[in-house]
Amino acid sequence: MLSQKMEQALNQQLNAELYSAYLYLSMAAYYSSINLNGFANWMTVQNLEETMHGMKFYKYINERGGRIKLEQIETPPHTWSSPLEVFEETLKHEEKVTGLINNLVDLAIAERDHAANAFLQWFIIEQVEEEASANEIIQNLKLAGNDPHALFMLDRELGTRVFTPPAAGE
Ligand SMILES: [Fe+2]
Ligand SMILES: [Fe+2]
Repeated sequence: MLSQKMEQALNQQLNAELYSAYLYLSMAAYYSSINLNGFANWMTVQNLEETMHGMKFYKYINERGGRIKLEQIETPPHTWSSPLEVFEETLKHEEKVTGLINNLVDLAIAERDHAANAFLQWFIIEQVEEEASANEIIQNLKLAGNDPHALFMLDRELGTRVFTPPAAGE
């Protein structure tokens, strides 16, 4: 059984993951509005990944006999000043989420909830990847600078990203 504190913390993270999904969907819409459809594609895939993260928490709370409590999802920002600013905000957001996951692990350790700790390790690894990919795109955008051709090539590349659904049981 989950402790009440852990149940509440996992529910908060479920909300945070769904907010992430909402944020990236808003970013996808921004990119579509400036005709960067490859960037928009990357963000819609990111949206699906975050929804999947949310569902991992949802399933885990259920599995441990906890009770899901859905809370209001905060309104994400609606517009940005440049394609680069969007990814700078993405990185900042992912760094914040990394902190949230670390806090959850701290709680699991404090409560000697080894199962929750093991469950959370997937997210520890995932956050390293999330930060690295946002960082890489920031570097690419900085290299592209004001060169429309370079931006076009990057847009094409990001347009190839596809969502891989988790394997059954994952
Ligand atoms: Fe996530
Ligand atoms: Fe993320």
